[in-house]
Amino acid sequence: MKIGFAADHAGYQLKTFLIELLKSKGIEIVDFGTDSTESVDYPDFAHPLARAVECGAVECGIAVCGTGNGISMTLNKHRKIRAAICWNEEIAILARKHNNANVCSLPARFISESEAAKVVETFLKTDFEGGRHQKRIDKIFV
Ligand code: RB5
Repeated sequence: MKIGFAADHAGYQLKTFLIELLKSKGIEIVDFGTDSTESVDYPDFAHPLARAVECGAVECGIAVCGTGNGISMTLNKHRKIRAAICWNEEIAILARKHNNANVCSLPARFISESEAAKVVETFLKTDFEGGRHQKRIDKIFV
């Protein structure tokens, strides 16, 4: 399993924490930046992550900005991306089971490291249910 990461300056520290966590579990990661807390624009990091998920270079993505909103809005402009803002384990489970989310977005300014760790671990181990949910996903794009 190879997981892609992207964050802006607000998400940099949480991204770093999560990358170390996944690496310690033997999971391969690809880091699309940013690389510091210096102010940056989240689309510059969201688009490369989205492209990597779309072409299969990574299995799924973890995206982090201050609220989770800006980076998700950017990711979801990509046709094959379903980025879901996840702030607790239950949301993460439903984002996978019902929405087949392929990016887990985290609101760095509104979630603790320990909660974010649980969210990511849950997101990565939960499978899509398919069935009626696939029909709904098929109706997202017009
Ligand atoms: C950066 O200050 C902040 O606006 C950004 O991380 C994000 O929350 C935007 O949606």
